[in-house]
Amino acid sequence: MNDVSKLGQMQPVSLGALTIDFGRNFPPPSPVVQRALTDTFADLGRANIADAIRFPRFMGSVGDREAGATWLSQRLGQKPNLESVVLANGSQSILAMLLARFVKPGGVLLAEELTYPAIKPLSALFGIELRAVSMDAEGIEPASLDQACIELGDSARALYCMPTLHNPTSATMSEARREDIARVARRYDLWLFEDDIYGILPEEAPPPLSLYAPERSWYILGLSKSLAAQLRVAYVVGPNSDISQDVFWPGVRTTNWMVAPLVAEVASHWLANGIGSDILRSVRAETLRRRALAASILPGKQISLSEFNYHLWIDLPEAWQLETFVKAARDAGAVVGPGHSFAIRALQGDRKFRIGLGVPPNQDELVRGLKVIASLIDAPSDPALNQ
Ligand SMILES: Cc1ncc(COP(=O)(O)O)c(C=O)c1O
Repeated sequence: MNDVSKLGQMQPVSLGALTIDFGRNFPPPSPVVQRALTDTFADLGRANIADAIRFPRFMGSVGDREAGATWLSQRLGQKPNLESVVLANGSQSILAMLLARFVKPGGVLLAEELTYPAIKPLSALFGIELRAVSMDAEGIEPASLDQACIELGDSARALYCMPTLHNPTSATMSEARREDIARVARRYDLWLFEDDIYGILPEEAPPPLSLYAPERSWYILGLSKSLAAQLRVAYVVGPNSDISQDVFWPGVRTTNWMVAPLVAEVASHWLANGIGSDILRSVRAETLRRRALAASILPGKQISLSEFNYHLWIDLPEAWQLETFVKAARDAGAVVGPGHSFAIRALQGDRKFRIGLGVPPNQDELVRGLKVIASLIDAPSDPALNQ
């Protein structure tokens, strides 16, 4: 008997042909985004912008950086110097540029032991070794970072990390932890690549790690997870204007070149006209609604109702193996993210899975998908273990 027919015996909720995607992690749909796109394209059309956006925008135009600096000030406490701000084609693209420039082939990039999965192929592409640093409930453990730096010596070049609402665990470093990590980075002369893509979701969050070691930090704030994956642009603030210009002016020919001008124009229009803030408010509100639904449907899970992130990191029920759980969920109509896909070291994350609450297009679909997952969590055992 195969897994699917055994699953039938356990009577999970089945969605038939319809698959609900919890594997990817996007902000929940916001009606403000569609309205904003419609209005913005009409506005830009009327403004006859073809000539204005014809020119290179290597670090973003002054207007892009001005709008970006104001947006960034929500997290940085004040507007950064415009000359050190760059608008680029997404956080991933910024990371590619920073890795190629500051870690280089043969160098080592340190990262949380569970991390943004794209960092793995990206490092491999540049011949960079990725070294896992242990985490606790607050994220990176300073002693583990210290130990790795001692072992690696000069080959340890940079730390890539997500200090606020870490993906996938949601861990957030306290201010004291940020100070400790900054101290270790300074001791071993590490660059810090801070990915704050989820850090703007909470109404209140600790200050970015970069503020604790500004002389070595590249602070990256993408819009994909807070406003709209449709735009896919991100800002990066370098340690000072000279180094930002050295890296990004006039364009990074091997990887990014420059931000796509039309998307930059839309992003800047949204941020300068308050549309960005409207979208963020609606994303926060829908996130809270979706978390409340998840808390009411998933059995025995402690889901804080006041947190603003839409990814949940869930314990695999004891009776299951990860791969069979993921397959059973998919067969029953719900895609979940297997924990080991986030792991740098083998055998990590294999008792966890991540679900992103943002992708289902509406709450009915969300509820239907969550019920599939709940029914599997409640299922007495993994069919594969009973064969
Ligand atoms: C932690 C993290 N950083 C960056 C990205 C990608 O961001 P962008 O769309 O700005 O390239 C993701 C997307 O999944 C992510 O989870």
